[in-house]
Amino acid sequence: MKLLESPGPIGVFDSGYGGLTILHQMRQLMPQYDYLYLGDNARAPYGPRSFDIVYQFTREAVMKLFDLGCHLVIIACNTASAKALRTIQQNDLPGIDPKRRVLGVIRPTAECIGHITQSRHVGIFATVGTIKSESYVLEIQKLYPDITVTGEPCPMWVPLIENNEYDSPGADYFVEKRIGNLMRRDPKIDTIILGCTHYPLLLNKILKYVPRGVKIIPQGEYVANSLKDYMVRHPEIDVKCSKGGKCHYMTTESVDKFSESAQLFLHETVDVEQVTLE
Ligand code: DGL
Repeated sequence: MKLLESPGPIGVFDSGYGGLTILHQMRQLMPQYDYLYLGDNARAPYGPRSFDIVYQFTREAVMKLFDLGCHLVIIACNTASAKALRTIQQNDLPGIDPKRRVLGVIRPTAECIGHITQSRHVGIFATVGTIKSESYVLEIQKLYPDITVTGEPCPMWVPLIENNEYDSPGADYFVEKRIGNLMRRDPKIDTIILGCTHYPLLLNKILKYVPRGVKIIPQGEYVANSLKDYMVRHPEIDVKCSKGGKCHYMTTESVDKFSESAQLFLHETVDVEQVTLE
């Protein structure tokens, strides 16, 4: 198949709605670009899925976004960044089109942490898949070998958010439990990364239970800053990203369901199109 050469939107991919928290920050910082968001809602959550399946689904999504004219795709999902990004970058891209780029969210988040933690003890809340991959531990320790990283899986948090229960009293139990576990495992933690793009929706609950003085880091702002910096360093990619300030949304689930839930993340109504991945 022949990929388009003319400039196209920046593709933003997540298993579901979580990537909207990243897209929101990117649009705040770089409103001039066009964006194409794809949520694989029909197959979310990815958190409990195997490496092979997450890789296969992510590859399909990236190919879809390339087909639709994107030269740059941001995998705005930690689980997919942890399990699929490296293979796509190293094994697939050279054969598909070595001039296209796929970037993830773990590296830019890891980069910021060295300037934030004082105690050099950092916690990560993420899906089971991201924690098991050890991607955050590896990325952070590569950059800052003096930092101790402790990951706490939060398997109930994405379902609470996807089912619009993130503000309910029931959510308190699951949030308090995971914060308690993490802080017992390493009481010296002074900084916690929200290593899942869904989790900013639980921020109010998290702040309610986190010990005083512990900083919570939602990653959207750091990913957006890193992308802005990337565009300056890579003018050859920047010219391939169209700048009409538009944003289009696609989902593999029903459009009504997506529009309703996307509103929780974006606080605006959006026009959505249903697509299939293969
Ligand atoms: N938003 C995804 C992430 O950042 C997790 C959602 C899922 O489990 O599919 O890891």
